[in-house]
Amino acid sequence: MASKILIIGGTGYIGKFIVDASAKSAHPTFALVREATVIDPAKAPLIESFKAAGVTLLYGDLYDHQSLVKAFKQVDVVISTLGALQISDQVKIIDAIKEAGNIKRFYPSEFGNDVDRTHAVDPAKSVFALKSAIRRKIEEEGIPYTIVSSNYFAGYFLPTLAQLDTTTPPRDKVTIIGDGNPKAIFVKETDIGAYTIKTVDDPRTLNKIVYIRPPANIITFNELVALWEKKIGKSLEKTYLSEEEVLKMIAESPLPINVVLSINHSVFIKGDHTNFEIESSFGVEASELYPDVKYTTVDEYLDQFV
Ligand SMILES: NC(=O)c1ccc[n+]([C@@H]2O[C@H](COP(=O)([O-])OP(=O)(O)OC[C@H]3O[C@@H](n4cnc5c(N)ncnc54)[C@H](OP(=O)(O)O)[C@@H]3O)[C@@H](O)[C@H]2O)c1
Repeated sequence: MASKILIIGGTGYIGKFIVDASAKSAHPTFALVREATVIDPAKAPLIESFKAAGVTLLYGDLYDHQSLVKAFKQVDVVISTLGALQISDQVKIIDAIKEAGNIKRFYPSEFGNDVDRTHAVDPAKSVFALKSAIRRKIEEEGIPYTIVSSNYFAGYFLPTLAQLDTTTPPRDKVTIIGDGNPKAIFVKETDIGAYTIKTVDDPRTLNKIVYIRPPANIITFNELVALWEKKIGKSLEKTYLSEEEVLKMIAESPLPINVVLSINHSVFIKGDHTNFEIESSFGVEASELYPDVKYTTVDEYLDQFV
């Protein structure tokens, strides 16, 4: 029987795609939601969509231990998609998993760079360190886990070609971080959901990092710009930012711009999405494991903005 999946943080940005993918699968799907969220008019359409998709809503809160234990006893697998502010407090999930005693697998909130294989500078470095600390705690406690390293959310970066000063794709000029040559990886959120749910009952992904590296979506900044230029039939004026300039911008920018900039530094200058090999001792690659998932390519994704 397909494992019962509980998502904590299902009403968040990436969480809703995981809930949706789970609800569409054979897995009975549960979402832990705070009561205040359920009555929040802004979240009403999402909550209604969960109900319509057959998702069982369980009231609870990360900071209410008993609510976690009670929820965990009803499921097999816990996926956390909590946001940046709750990363460290995921120790509360670990405590509740230990008490419940029945959880077959835990997915901590990751969904980005491999935080143990990065050359990030602060503030990203410190944010990544919090995720690493949760990994160490999971290992220490012997909790079965899967880590999903999904690289960039397409929706965060592709609509603007990673420009921070606009909400639309650039049509005249573009700023490229670094020399534009390291390869980055962009994955559409629905595909992150689909791949994540595929891993749940797969023994190949147990106690492993699942990297989502769809081959067509491994692309340099320069290639991304060239692809966009071809689509709009126009060449853009390009400004290249040196590493020194980027580090200065990080130091001078407020939150959360400095976090985004420092992640961009790690990816576009240091090449942290692709500068290491996935070894079978610690990882597997999702598009290899699940060739049946027809992922959206960067090329296809950009078409909607032309
Ligand atoms: N790779 C990338 O490009 C990328 C980009 C962004 C984020 N990420 C990563 O993705 C992960 C999720 O981030 P996100 O931005 O999707 O998160 P988010 O939108 O901030 O969502 C956070 C979720 O946590 C829930 N939550 C907050 N406090 C809670 C509590 N006390 N008890 C229970 N639930 C609580 C929120 O519920 P409410 O709806 O009730 O507030 C919401 O569902 C993070 O690890 C982040 O680093 C990756």
